Amino acid sequence: MTAKRAVVTGGAGFLGSHLCDALLGEGWNVVVVDNLLTGRRTNLAHLKSDSRFELVERDICEPFDVGRFDYIFHFASPASPVDYMIHGLATLKVGSLGTFHALDLARKYGAKYLVSSTSECYGDPLEHPQTETYWGNVNPIGPRSVYDESKRFTEAVTMAYHRYHQVDTRIVRIFNTYGPRMQINDGRVVPNFMKQALCGEELTVYGNGLQTRSFCYVSDEVDGFLRLAKSDEHLPVNIGNPNEFTMLECAQMVLKVTGSKSQIRYEPLPQDDPKQRRPDITKAQQLLGWEPKVDLETGLRKSLEYFQQAVAAEAAVK
Ligand SMILES: NC(=O)c1ccc[n+]([C@@H]2O[C@H](COP(=O)([O-])OP(=O)(O)OC[C@H]3O[C@@H](n4cnc5c(N)ncnc54)[C@H](O)[C@@H]3O)[C@@H](O)[C@H]2O)c1
Repeated sequence: MTAKRAVVTGGAGFLGSHLCDALLGEGWNVVVVDNLLTGRRTNLAHLKSDSRFELVERDICEPFDVGRFDYIFHFASPASPVDYMIHGLATLKVGSLGTFHALDLARKYGAKYLVSSTSECYGDPLEHPQTETYWGNVNPIGPRSVYDESKRFTEAVTMAYHRYHQVDTRIVRIFNTYGPRMQINDGRVVPNFMKQALCGEELTVYGNGLQTRSFCYVSDEVDGFLRLAKSDEHLPVNIGNPNEFTMLECAQMVLKVTGSKSQIRYEPLPQDDPKQRRPDITKAQQLLGWEPKVDLETGLRKSLEYFQQAVAAEAAVK
């Protein structure tokens, strides 16, 4: 039997590259389509000599076709606040045009489709924790709207292709995920704290540091993607770790894991920064038998070596 073929848009990024590893591990042939806007070839360097793997450098905002395939995992989009603030228009385009193109291809080949959406669809939520049936509280014109509304539109187009064209779609709402291959300067909490701690700099905490986040280790997150991919659920499913930490608790955990003596510095809260974010994962538990296994301290320890190397590599080029 010939192996099934999967396309991963955005596969040179943090999550996409881990997904490629998992798909290859399950016996798929994998084609990444990525324009390297925020992704890196180094994330896929270990797959270079694998004949089942291919990297196609292309912007999916232009129509593309990589030949027949069985599944498309649509992960292309700037994702960190630093990236989507710089690439605001590109973020809106990939969520809209890019999503149309990914869905058109899935339709053409009768392939299955799974798209990465986000907890940002819930905005600054008025319900806590967030269930998939909550419609969110998003500022549609604020600075973060380039990402939040792009993703909400992505979900709308996906559901429309499912309803009008019977494309076999899935939507995963990803909550904060961390692990090796994150960019160390992307403004997200874990890389920020890790880099500051490893460099002996003060850890930057915004506001009073009591706003909470939940952090999911990347292997748990990817396990959730694969389970959802194999299911028949078309409506969104939250995949994230429900264990909530304040920013201060997270900073202290990073100090413990790195053994750093850095102090904490407080800065004003950015606009529209959500005060609380925590997934209700009842649906994923019941439907997919999924729940995260890696706690924050273990995940940070698993990531430590990567962040040490990334900090050293950055220091070497300065
Ligand atoms: N990391 C998280 O915690 C998180 C949380 C919620 C949602 N997500 C979603 O998961 C997906 C992947 O996120 P990530 O953290 O791996 O981000 P990332 O920036 O590391 O990866 C995104 C990839 O998409 C590629 N890309 C962007 N625009 C493109 C285009 N027009 N054509 C082709 N490729 C393009 C980038 O080059 C990059 O390789 C995104 O859709 C993001 O919205 C991530």
